[in-house]
Amino acid sequence: MSPSPNTPARDRLRIAIQKSGRLAEPARALLASCGLSWRESRDRLFCYGESLPIDLLLVRDDDIPGLIDQGVCDLGVVGRNVLLEQDRGRGGNGAAPTFREWRALGFGGCRLSIAVPDSWEWQGAQQLAGRRIATSYPALLGQWLQEQGIAADIVMLSGSVEIAPRLGQADAICDLVSSGATLAANQLKPVQTILESEAVLAGPAHELDSVRGELAELLLRRLDGALRIRHSKLLLFQAPRRVLPDLLPLLPDAEAPTVMRLDDNDDLALQALCHGAVTWQRLEELKRAGARGLMVLPVEGMLA
Ligand code: PRP
Ligand code: ZN
Repeated sequence: MSPSPNTPARDRLRIAIQKSGRLAEPARALLASCGLSWRESRDRLFCYGESLPIDLLLVRDDDIPGLIDQGVCDLGVVGRNVLLEQDRGRGGNGAAPTFREWRALGFGGCRLSIAVPDSWEWQGAQQLAGRRIATSYPALLGQWLQEQGIAADIVMLSGSVEIAPRLGQADAICDLVSSGATLAANQLKPVQTILESEAVLAGPAHELDSVRGELAELLLRRLDGALRIRHSKLLLFQAPRRVLPDLLPLLPDAEAPTVMRLDDNDDLALQALCHGAVTWQRLEELKRAGARGLMVLPVEGMLA
């Protein structure tokens, strides 16, 4: 029997992820690559962990920091923009943050940027003085304006921020930009980045204890392995010993290669774990430098 999401299950770890939207699928895929699997409940809000006692809660991304704060879930996958906005937003009452970023996850990259109408000739941030800026990120924008010493009016909107200038609600906006298509479609241009964001694993400010602490540690170890090999390839090749000094500079992103001596001659067999892109061009350069039998293999898992 799956416990209901409302009964505290202190011996199981609970991770909140976005129910739908940009981060939903990659978050699940990343956790699945850490060996997690789930049985989905019929309401599709709670997934009961099968391979490990780690359950998923499917929620709105904006709710995730609050759920961690309340202890309803232990960890969450959420945009750094949401996490920091709610962290700064709490700053007013002087409370210490109860959640923090545990890991950057390397997907869902975007920028929180100020954008102005295409027709503006941008001369710098001071141009925003006395203007109205629409945003769903009042705390982050407010902090940035204060750091710049600019007095502007923040118009808080919970959505459709990009249309505010055309509706006469604001002069400029501060919103997330990923491809830039939304801005372009609304005759706006980004002029100033105030935060680089990506998906992060968020957790409580303190360590988790006992069983959940151990589960979180296990997950982090697997996650670090998965993140490390995300773009990694194993490169196998042979080469005469004398060309090694020419080959190694072509592998700057590789861990120290494993070198094996082949029987009867001066030939070596090498295997190198490359963390950067192994392109055709690179393979051709290695071949020109004397490598033979080059083979590129995917890396499925790694435990340091
Ligand atoms: C963001 C942002 C823009 C859009 C920009 O919304 O508010 O509407 O993405 O992306 P683009 O530069 O690729 O066009 P998002 O989809 O993240 O939804 P949310 O802000 O409502 O969570
Ligand atoms: Zn959202």
